[in-house]
Amino acid sequence: MNIRITGTGSALPGRILTNAELETLVDTSDEWITTRTGIKERRIAGEGEYTSTFAAEAGRNALAMAGVDPRELDLIILSTVTPDFPFPSTACIVQDMLGAVNATAFDISAACSGFIYGLSVAEKYLRSGSAKKILIIGSEVLSRIVNWKDRNTCVLFGDGAGAVVLEASEGNHQLCSTHTFSNGAHWNLLYQPGSGSRHPATDSRTIDGEMLHITMEGNEVFKHAVRAMEEASLKALEANGLVADDISLLIPHQANRRIIDATAKRLGIEADRQYTNLHRYGNTSSASIPIALDEANRLNVIKPGGKVLLVAFGGGFAYGSALITW
Ligand code: COA
Repeated sequence: MNIRITGTGSALPGRILTNAELETLVDTSDEWITTRTGIKERRIAGEGEYTSTFAAEAGRNALAMAGVDPRELDLIILSTVTPDFPFPSTACIVQDMLGAVNATAFDISAACSGFIYGLSVAEKYLRSGSAKKILIIGSEVLSRIVNWKDRNTCVLFGDGAGAVVLEASEGNHQLCSTHTFSNGAHWNLLYQPGSGSRHPATDSRTIDGEMLHITMEGNEVFKHAVRAMEEASLKALEANGLVADDISLLIPHQANRRIIDATAKRLGIEADRQYTNLHRYGNTSSASIPIALDEANRLNVIKPGGKVLLVAFGGGFAYGSALITW
């Protein structure tokens, strides 16, 4: 049985926040942000825009490309670290927005690797015969948990959503493998301290201590990210009997230009075989890979029959890879 990607979609806020504007918010510069991260601008959600609204729009776009009616969906998997509410799942809200009345819907928490984790769970549902048509979405409104006074983190992140439709069928765009990994020993190098059961949002100390924001040890995360993305990539190549030269396009998690460059260098995948858009969107966590995949698909930059390697890393640490024959 084959697993086919029949549709891709994405959705982004209209509001663009440039590095020049960030210079007016914190002590930073376009030059610093560009050389350290590669990011030039990011999208920021406006009033009335939530994780669910971007997720539903990306999902509709993917379903339209696939020619799948929302009522045909068996499953909706949504990955996010910025759900509309702690509960219910944002996936259930999106199910309602799409009218996907026959789908089971749930959220996945795997930070920036959530889309790869979602692909992996969906793959198992399809291979076991438990589902035939699945919508997987990565959607984030990180601007609402970023500390806009902290120059170490606020320059890095952006908002948006990406989605794919997976179906059990013959044809092109086959999902060949997925691999997921976790290393919980370093959970506190990248996390949101407040709003959960340890430091509830209802406790004034959580707000006074500025614990509701993303907290990160940037240097440490950087080192782990490069090693982990190489490991996950090599696992995908090995599982499919491939070498790096066989890869037509690498679509890495769009965290930082230098992380992508270091990973690609270790693998031996040159710039003309990488798809990146982080200069336009920053790090959109679990949305970054499906947004990039949708862009690459719609721009026809993936050669038919080409091997596409997706690889992600993020808080947890959670990381993983997927291999697609396009
Ligand atoms: N503008 C100007 N200066 C800044 C700055 C900004 N936006 N952010 C940090 N700095 C300063 C620091 O305060 C520090 O100053 P100091 O030397 O006076 O203390 C200096 O720049 C160097 O900081 P450092 O943290 O060593 O920079 P770096 O080269 O490691 O780059 C990151 C910082 C965050 C860009 C880098 O560590 C990184 O990309 N890490 C991975 C982050 C990531 O991708 N996380 C998500 C993974 S899914």
